[in-house]
Amino acid sequence: MSKAVDLRGIAPADLTPEQAKAELAALAREIAEHDKRYYQDDAPLISDEEYDQLRRRNGDIEQLFPELRRSDSPSARVGAPAAGGFAKVVHRVPMLSLENAFSEDEVLEFGNRVRRFLKRPDGEPLAMVAEPKIDGLSASLRYEAGKFVSGATRGDGVTGEDITANLATLTDVPKRIAKAPAVLEVRGEVYMTRTDFEALNATQAAADKPPYANRRNAAAGSLRQIDPSVTAGRGLHFFAYAVGEVSEEPWDSQWGIVERLKVWGFQTNPLSRRYATLEDAIGLHRTLQEQRPALPYDIDGVVYKIDRLDWQRRLGMVSRAPRWALAHKFAAEQVETTVREIAVYVGRTGKLTPVAHVGPVGVGGVVVSNVTLHNEDEVARKDVRPGDTVVIQRAGDVIPQLVRVVEDKRPAKVAKAGPFQMPDHCPECGSLAVREEGEVDRRCTGGLICAPQIVQRLHHFASRDAFDIRGLGEIQIQQLWEWGAIKEPADLFTLPARNAALTPPLQERMGWGETKVANLFRAIESARTVDLDRFLYALGIRHVGQTNARLLAKSYGSYQGLHTAMQDAWDRDGEAYASLDAIEGMGPVLAEAVVDFFKEPHNRAVLDDLERVVTIRDFIPPASDSPLAGKTIVFTGTLETLTRDEAKARALALGAKVAGSVSPKTDLVVLGPGAGSKGKKAAELGLATVDEAAFLKLIGG
Ligand code: IVH
Repeated sequence: MSKAVDLRGIAPADLTPEQAKAELAALAREIAEHDKRYYQDDAPLISDEEYDQLRRRNGDIEQLFPELRRSDSPSARVGAPAAGGFAKVVHRVPMLSLENAFSEDEVLEFGNRVRRFLKRPDGEPLAMVAEPKIDGLSASLRYEAGKFVSGATRGDGVTGEDITANLATLTDVPKRIAKAPAVLEVRGEVYMTRTDFEALNATQAAADKPPYANRRNAAAGSLRQIDPSVTAGRGLHFFAYAVGEVSEEPWDSQWGIVERLKVWGFQTNPLSRRYATLEDAIGLHRTLQEQRPALPYDIDGVVYKIDRLDWQRRLGMVSRAPRWALAHKFAAEQVETTVREIAVYVGRTGKLTPVAHVGPVGVGGVVVSNVTLHNEDEVARKDVRPGDTVVIQRAGDVIPQLVRVVEDKRPAKVAKAGPFQMPDHCPECGSLAVREEGEVDRRCTGGLICAPQIVQRLHHFASRDAFDIRGLGEIQIQQLWEWGAIKEPADLFTLPARNAALTPPLQERMGWGETKVANLFRAIESARTVDLDRFLYALGIRHVGQTNARLLAKSYGSYQGLHTAMQDAWDRDGEAYASLDAIEGMGPVLAEAVVDFFKEPHNRAVLDDLERVVTIRDFIPPASDSPLAGKTIVFTGTLETLTRDEAKARALALGAKVAGSVSPKTDLVVLGPGAGSKGKKAAELGLATVDEAAFLKLIGG
């Protein structure tokens, strides 16, 4: 058999990079094949357990060799797309959409437009059919000689997908119609009831599959199953409301169509009615807005249709929507509930987000128990307090919103308690939480000791431009953190010594192994001595990126120098603060961020611990007499002797500036093989260029 099968017996940790690469390619191919057999052909070759093992092996190898992760990796997708498996169908009569109205005025204006178009007198009554607008997906059913022959989705209105077999499983789709025209297309909405939706999501959850977000998605997903027996089990329904191509028309009004569809055995919506005037028809909108929560299916408005078909024909359509119909949408559903608590969450960037925990209520098709309040300004504007009664709404797929507080329902106790105060300390780690001028968000300053932030911070700490600990990606850091092996940056450097005492030690854990652990520990050792600017950058102080880290390093020269100055600068009005603020390119925002960081006791503890385990090299000022001092350099193409980072570092050390793009201000372009547009531009601008060898000579070898 192939080489791939031979590799299967080797534990991920024992694979060489070449083997790992081959194995990832083999796994991607095999898993895709199994996906297709399972999802599209419904003919799996292997058991679920075997399939899971393949996926797990793929994930384990990717974790060990993140750089080998493929763009078509199976871990990036779940299952196979159900689409692509259906034939296309061109609708002989296009499937139209509807124009929307959101207010009664807009609806009345629609009536005026219709009258003007038909040259009817102002105010002439317009007989209408009004019916609920079902929130499902439309389908077209084709009958030939009374026999159901094909069914399609709406698609883009012109071309849909052939889902005949799936539609045939619906009990609401008659398979034969007595006394039907030779050709008859019936159109309507496929939907799922609330109870079926809940049952489906319960089944999904039991099978460890993601829930459907709403009933329409569930209906669509169920209808577009490659295997019709899956559709059959989902309990989908169909309301008929229109016709497409027909060979004869045994009706003379819209209402006549509805009546006839009923006679032919279709389900039509029991709430549909004919009204003598548009004004009367609007009554259905008011009624249904109230009844909506109690209906067994979702509706998102009312559809009005001119009853007279001769008028419909004259009115025709504009850009894919008929001029004779209108969708009057409901306002987002609103419900009242009470705020149990305002909790404050800390995100991975330290951002504090207030969230109202409310008594669970159903709104817009989902049960809501948390509503985000976004930020403290929003809380203040709405003056939301724990204990308040509030109105929340949810429209479509939009996240639930808190609309307003019902003030007359505010208990005296709540009124007395006063407005909600955003904490000025982080609820996770207790560090100072500050809101900078001009910012809407308050942020925790505890970066390196704050649990929600720590994995991201540790990852930054170990990253290439910081401590550059190779082989320590976010996944590895997440694992080490979860296992309790590291809590703060200094722990990375004591890890090799503590490893033997871990139970089990790292090399015995899933996805690690001897070689990987040995490599990691080597990388940790060589990272132990670090340049001051990299050290400062690694700390993840707000506003301190690589450039500002260099600026600080340059200004203070040594870690001790900087540390002492920061301590002296605490009160913010002494000489130390003034000189920090005075550094060219510093500015008050950066100065404050740095002082805040050094002031925070948690950060000081982190720094104390780090000082014990790492060596911070003083900043070496770039030689000002070097030929590169003050010059702007651009590197392009591949370098052969130096890495891009090294070349950059050397140039910076010699006082040069390194830019990313070529401009007339560029002094020198270092061209490696494969230099593309930048090389061309350099030539166009007549800039000085050198190859790598010449550059090396320039910087003294
Ligand atoms: S009539 C010729 N009636 O709404 C007009 N559409 O937003 C064709 N819909 O694509 C549509 N309930 O999927 C009509 N009672 C109803 C409807 C309805 C739901 C859907 C339909 C249409 C969409 C337009």
